[in-house]
Order: sequence, then C-alpha cells, then structure tokens
Amino acid sequence: WCRHFDIGLRRIMARRAIGIDIGGTGIKGALVDVKSGKLLSERLRYETPKGGTPKAIANTLKDLIANLPKSEGLPVGICFPAVVKNGVTKSAANVSNDWIDLDADRLFEKELKRTVHVLNDADAAGLAEAKFGAAKNVKGLVVVTTLGTGIGTALIYNGKLIPNAELGHLEIDGVDYESKAAFSAKEREELTWEQWAKRLQKYYGRLEALLTPDLFIVGGGVSKEHEMFLPLLKLKTKIVPATNRNSAGILEIG
Ligand code: BGC
Repeated sequence: WCRHFDIGLRRIMARRAIGIDIGGTGIKGALVDVKSGKLLSERLRYETPKGGTPKAIANTLKDLIANLPKSEGLPVGICFPAVVKNGVTKSAANVSNDWIDLDADRLFEKELKRTVHVLNDADAAGLAEAKFGAAKNVKGLVVVTTLGTGIGTALIYNGKLIPNAELGHLEIDGVDYESKAAFSAKEREELTWEQWAKRLQKYYGRLEALLTPDLFIVGGGVSKEHEMFLPLLKLKTKIVPATNRNSAGILEIG
C-alpha cells in the first residue's frame, strides 16, 4: 500500500511545478499543473529590481517562491527576456548586461536549490499557445508576439518551435522598432490607441512581408485590451489575441 501511495504521490508531485516569468518591469510566478496548463495558486507579482542584476533577480525569486503555498522542492521553469541557449542567457535587452553569457540554469539551481530550466519568454509564450492556446492544431507558420517592455517573438511551424527568433528588434525607419512599438513605448510617450496602432501596423506589416505567416498571435498584458487596437490593424494575415494573455510565460515551464 505504502509503495502505491508513494508512486501515486510522486506522480501528483511531478505534475506540479513553479512557473516564473521574469520581465523588464515585473516578475510573476505561480504553481502550475504542467499537464493541464492550469494555475494551481494565485499569481504573485514583484517589481523587477532596478538594474536587473543576476543576484538581485535571484533574491526576488527566492522571496516569491517562499510565498507560494506547498512549493518545497518543486522544479522551476523560468522564462527570461533574452536569447537562451542550453540554459545560458546570450543577450540582455531590458535587464543588466551581466546576463550575457551567464549560465542562468546553474545560477538559479544554486540559489534556489532545485531543478531549474530557463528559456526565452516569447518562446515560452509560443509553446504555451501551441500546447494550450490559439496556436493549438494550427498548420503552417504561426508568429507569436508579446507586447510588453520589449517585443518578443516566437515562430511555431506545424506545432514545432523554432527557438530564439529576435524579431522584436527589426530595424524600421532606422531604429530598433521595439523602442517604438512595444507597449512600454505607448505608455512612455502617452500614445493614444490609434497612434500606437499606426506603429503596430508598420511592425506587423513588415513581419508579414518577410514571413507570410498563417496566423499572428498577440500576447503580453496589453492583449487583455485587444479590442482597443487589433481591429485598427489592416493585414492580410489573421491576427488574434493570445488565449493565455499574460500567463503564457508562466504556463510553459519546459
Ligand atoms: C528581447 C527578447 C524578449 C523580448 C520580450 C526583447 O527585447 O530581446 O529576447 O523575448 O524582449 O521580453
């Protein structure tokens, strides 16, 4: 009986994990059922520490995890706003440059004392949409974009992720267009929905011309307000809000 109980318990434990989404502005985390994609706890949110250094972010994660119920020993999936190859962060767009070429998997495993897997935030959102959301069973090329502090992009082809696409940094009008079309630009410059939509039109128009996708999915916190800006875009490609809105990053914990 004990053995069966033990195996059963371990199975239940293996279905649970902690999903954490590190952004340039906020760090969010929750317990997740990895099979169903359902959140099993409240979503906690902390401010990203100023400067976004590895040590400061690791400390915030410790606090966050300590405040999640029944989280002892559970594995952690972390999505991060940078190119991530085999757990090593290779870039740093809205966080400290100390992340460049840092073994983030190892750092977090040491600090959090448990199994950790780090991946790019937009890729995590893309995988979550392919598994549980608007990209599920969609054939061809789906371009998932996240509009937040930066612009994240994930390419999903016939359900498979092509990792680390950094198309948020497309150069348009001589500038890195993330600085014009991310949601942070709307806030910083106090743009109206119409003014912002003009920039999004340029951005998605360029993506469309380069990739001829079958579907665009728009995620990030602002996608909750998709009715304010998606109807203003005129594209040949269908464009829909992410099903998982702002939790996509937390859901796909690798
Ligand atoms: C980063 C990407 C990230 C995106 C969204 C960009 O500035 O280069 O790696 O996915 O922001 O956070």
